[in-house]
Amino acid sequence: SEELSLRPQLLKQYIGQHKAKENLSIFIEAAKMRNEALDHVLLYGPPGLGKTTMAQIIANEMGVQFKQTSGPAIERSGDLAAILSSLEVGDVLFIDEIHRLPRAVEEILYPAMEDFCLDIVIGQGPSARSVQLDLPPFTLVGATTRAGLLSAPLRDRFGVLSRLEFYEVVDLCAIVERTADIFQVEIDKTAALEVARRSRGTPRIANRLLKRVRDISQVKGESSISIETTQKALQMLQVDQEGLDHIDHKLLLAMMDGFKGGPVGLDTIAASIGEESQTIEDVYEPYLLQQGFIQRTPRGRLVTPKAYAHFDREVPQT
Ligand code: ADE
Repeated sequence: SEELSLRPQLLKQYIGQHKAKENLSIFIEAAKMRNEALDHVLLYGPPGLGKTTMAQIIANEMGVQFKQTSGPAIERSGDLAAILSSLEVGDVLFIDEIHRLPRAVEEILYPAMEDFCLDIVIGQGPSARSVQLDLPPFTLVGATTRAGLLSAPLRDRFGVLSRLEFYEVVDLCAIVERTADIFQVEIDKTAALEVARRSRGTPRIANRLLKRVRDISQVKGESSISIETTQKALQMLQVDQEGLDHIDHKLLLAMMDGFKGGPVGLDTIAASIGEESQTIEDVYEPYLLQQGFIQRTPRGRLVTPKAYAHFDREVPQT
């Protein structure tokens, strides 16, 4: 699909995340020199920054198979045992949303990660017995939005912790141009930069916005996507000059109007705008925090003067 072909296959094709790439490339090279499986890797950071892509690249670079599942998809320990026992030497097993693994399943993972050993219980009641199976050395790549969501014993079993950061505008611009190339559309430099600037540091958002901009440009019959069309498209999509969307606005305005700018607790904000606390925390807050529109304090979230300025408002006097 178009979606799949957007994913780079190798580290040298992966744009941005310079620190993560630099570290991983050394650990991969060393593991290959020793002819060993790569240590287990935990990728963490906000959604849409390329955790799945990076996991696939690790498998490609190591020259091994890639198997993928997710925390919520593994309900029983038998499900995980089945996946683990299908692995071959050096394979990458990618578990997305690894913080959502059920507790009993997580416990199967400890000896598997540490000793490449599968502990399974056969039968029930008094006749139940436990057997150990050897697993081939493999690499677990886990992904989570926040490392702090993992239990300490699970987190401690990863040899490599790699945090993916929001992308810089230059890197997002290169991604937009690469995607346009794959879509076989021309895009003006200024237009690519505008999409990049308004994508919340997130390639997934940049690529999604580019698709809609492309639609409008195509209907207009443009030979190259222009800045004017890009601005019109982004306005239609309710993406503002700073890349904030309708829900960011709802969130910030609710804090200003309903709670005098805070401090206000996450659950209180969530209830007032009808979103899940977890979604706000994982999807919306990280960028607002990074850009300095909100702050976290021990007493709750606070709207900053920058946010008031963004809406052309005076900071209220307390
Ligand atoms: N497409 C989406 N994310 C990308 C990245 N980081 N590098 C290259 N292409 C991408």
